[in-house]
Amino acid sequence: MAAIEPCLFIIIGVTGDLTHRKLLPALIHLRAADSFSEQVRILGCARGSNLDDQKFRTLANQVFDEILKQKDRGGINPEQETKVRDWLNNAFFYEPIDQGGIDDYKALLKKIEMIEREGHLPGDRVYYLALPPQAFTSTIEALGESGLNKSPGWTRIVIEKPFGRDLSSAQQLNALVHKYFDETQIYRIDHYLGKETVQNLLAFRFGNAMFESLWNRDRIEHIQITAAETVGVEKRADYYEHAGAIRDMVQNHITQLVALTSMEVPGAFDADAIRFEKIKVLRAIAPISPEDVVFGQYAPGEIDGKHVAGYREEPGVAPQSKTETFAAVKIKINNWRWQGVPFFLRTGKRLAKHATQIVITFRCPPVTLFQDIEDCKMHPNTLVIKIQPDEGFDLSFEVKAPGDEIRLECHHMRFDYEEAFGEPPDGYQTLLLDVVQGVQTLFLHAEEVEASWRVYTPLFAYDFRPHPYPAGTWGPEESAALLQKHGAEWIIL
Ligand SMILES: NC(=O)c1ccc[n+]([C@@H]2O[C@H](COP(=O)([O-])OP(=O)(O)OC[C@H]3O[C@@H](n4cnc5c(N)ncnc54)[C@H](OP(=O)(O)O)[C@@H]3O)[C@@H](O)[C@H]2O)c1
Repeated sequence: MAAIEPCLFIIIGVTGDLTHRKLLPALIHLRAADSFSEQVRILGCARGSNLDDQKFRTLANQVFDEILKQKDRGGINPEQETKVRDWLNNAFFYEPIDQGGIDDYKALLKKIEMIEREGHLPGDRVYYLALPPQAFTSTIEALGESGLNKSPGWTRIVIEKPFGRDLSSAQQLNALVHKYFDETQIYRIDHYLGKETVQNLLAFRFGNAMFESLWNRDRIEHIQITAAETVGVEKRADYYEHAGAIRDMVQNHITQLVALTSMEVPGAFDADAIRFEKIKVLRAIAPISPEDVVFGQYAPGEIDGKHVAGYREEPGVAPQSKTETFAAVKIKINNWRWQGVPFFLRTGKRLAKHATQIVITFRCPPVTLFQDIEDCKMHPNTLVIKIQPDEGFDLSFEVKAPGDEIRLECHHMRFDYEEAFGEPPDGYQTLLLDVVQGVQTLFLHAEEVEASWRVYTPLFAYDFRPHPYPAGTWGPEESAALLQKHGAEWIIL
């Protein structure tokens, strides 16, 4: 692939955790791989004035040092190291934006023009809002009111998640950003979409005729999507107390997996066609009944043999907090393909295992040859798509166990992504590259975000009491009961 043409990548919120852990490593890898040319410039901004160009370069070099300490030097050879060091020491700049007023942004414009002039850049700009969500509105307004939404070349804005906290706030944010940028300039991030295995869902479904013909209510009994974490709230109590599992995981990441699993075949492999099909299927999700929702909250327990605190004992969490750290939800999609096929979604913190998986459970044969044979139990075929970790998939099927008697045994065919292709790159590399190339396929359209909030916003009106569950388990028993009503159980490999 040809290296990206010169442009200026402006990170607003550059002193934050996201920049340190995700954006800088992704930029470094993109430069090492020559995906970004040496002429691409990075301008970091934050309110604090304790950084300057030189200190920002030192910080970026420290992030690079951390990468080189990883297994196999993070995949970077000595020649690439020299190239990346040169880039970090020459192409990185910093500008404080103090209180984020119009004057601060006018000063930012001067710095932008200076960098573009000296670097002979054509004036193509990305603004990456690596900011806490409460800073999105004022920053978008300041960019627009100070004229930074216009440039001699193209201008794009990247907005991190969460995009709103319910339908009306998402609509307001969309209206604001549309005041200054048109939809083709807006890149709403859901970093799950940058994962190779999430994109592989499209290849898997639409590149293999074999599965597509089974992908409907005639052949599929139900679908489960689990996104389980073993970590607790860590240092994010401030944010999480006001978010909870539905806002943090279900409305965005899990719903994206629902959309990719259930959408119709797009007419083309482009952003418009794919996003149109996702919007269509999200709009077909029926209102969720409160009986189909289970909330949980982790109590003290054990993870990896170590005692861990309960959610209410975590620093920054209210002692009587009602925030859900676990949610299980049954949704129904009212269209021809999915009528009568429940989708069970669950996510939680401090669960027994770190895993994101989609499980497709197929129907058993309508008449079974084996029903009258003693001890001959039949298991439905399942296809498990493993999103993280241990990316790959697993198809279970029945075989005859050896011996005189007829007995069925469940076995598995497996594909392991890492075995086939090596470790997948971090999703942020894919997403940053797409932004500078102007490819919107993996970013959310305004209507997609609103369609998703429309599904979950009514739940916020209910006073759900989260059921306590011991850390290190699979959540409250009530979540198992949600599937038992359908004669099923949660599956995780
Ligand atoms: N961290 C992750 O792994 C992760 C993963 C996925 C998504 N995200 C999303 O990415 C965004 C940033 O997350 P983060 O973890 O990096 O947050 P963070 O650690 O709190 O950093 C936020 C950054 O924004 C700056 N900032 C705060 N308020 C500001 C304001 N009003 N105007 C201008 N700058 C302001 C902060 O620096 P100053 O206070 O010095 O200005 C800092 O540089 C959030 O929307 C988050 O949901 C983060």
